[in-house]
Amino acid sequence: MKASAPGKIILFGEHAVVYNRPALAVPVTQVKVDVEVTDSESAGIHIHAPIINLHAELNTLPPDHAIGSVVLKVFSAFGISNPPPLKINITSTIPAAAGLGSGAAVSAALIRALALHLAYPLTNEQVNDMVFEIEKLHHGTPSGIDNTVITFSKPVYFVKGQPIETFKVGKPFTIVIGDTGVAAPTKESVGDVRKLWLEDQNKFEVLFNEIGKISQTARDSIESGQPEQLGGLMDQNHALLQQLTVSSNELDNLVTAARDAGALGAKLSGGGRGGNMIALVKKEKAESVSNALLSAGAKRTIVTEIK
Ligand code: PMV
Repeated sequence: MKASAPGKIILFGEHAVVYNRPALAVPVTQVKVDVEVTDSESAGIHIHAPIINLHAELNTLPPDHAIGSVVLKVFSAFGISNPPPLKINITSTIPAAAGLGSGAAVSAALIRALALHLAYPLTNEQVNDMVFEIEKLHHGTPSGIDNTVITFSKPVYFVKGQPIETFKVGKPFTIVIGDTGVAAPTKESVGDVRKLWLEDQNKFEVLFNEIGKISQTARDSIESGQPEQLGGLMDQNHALLQQLTVSSNELDNLVTAARDAGALGAKLSGGGRGGNMIALVKKEKAESVSNALLSAGAKRTIVTEIK
């Protein structure tokens, strides 16, 4: 049985979402994880993930292994103590550790493929809960936005602890994603923001409120088919993220390069300090903005249409 899951980007509201303000995230369907589960002739659970050079039998992996732990979790959720011999093949075009949700996408696709093969039907909500549990193991205190947008593969208006709200895109729009190539663990930037918030809660609550308002306005613009309004909102959101101290020289350089090349607006996306930035562009400008980002030092760009 086969299942897949897309990548994702956060459009608005990262960090503030950890403090219960709304954030918007969308799937990036140009990149994805595919998982195939088949019966195996030889005993055991054989996992093949060439992207991370993994060719191993489940029993030989440590119990907290990023992929092995997902398989174990699925067996335990299904009450399977004696799993049948299986072959699990995982391929991915989502760049790893780049803020595009590759980990959550592997978990979602793997859980679905195993559930299909073992004939245990799961709702999206159940898959989402399981992926969230795994995210918590590896990322500390995630808000839950990544697993939600990836599991549902739809634009999501996310407020921590509230029922999942997907929303419609009134008119498609084009985003260029630029990767700084700088690895920056989200756990650290989230931890640093927490320290600053503890030192000056009044100041940071005001910043989070402003970011929350931007997410709300952005959702209205997207739903009502006025995506061009998102450019200014991205610029404002980036300035607020700079005040949260989660931007970096590399991110700021790429944001400036995108604006100079004619993007309607740009901001960092995700945990910050490194990872990705995003720029809103008119479709015909996608290539020139993408080239400008590469010239300014981006390691990779992805052009995606949000619809
Ligand atoms: O680094 P990413 O793309 O996984 O995004 C993290 C988003 C944060 O708001 C910074 C953290 C979270 O858990 O929501």
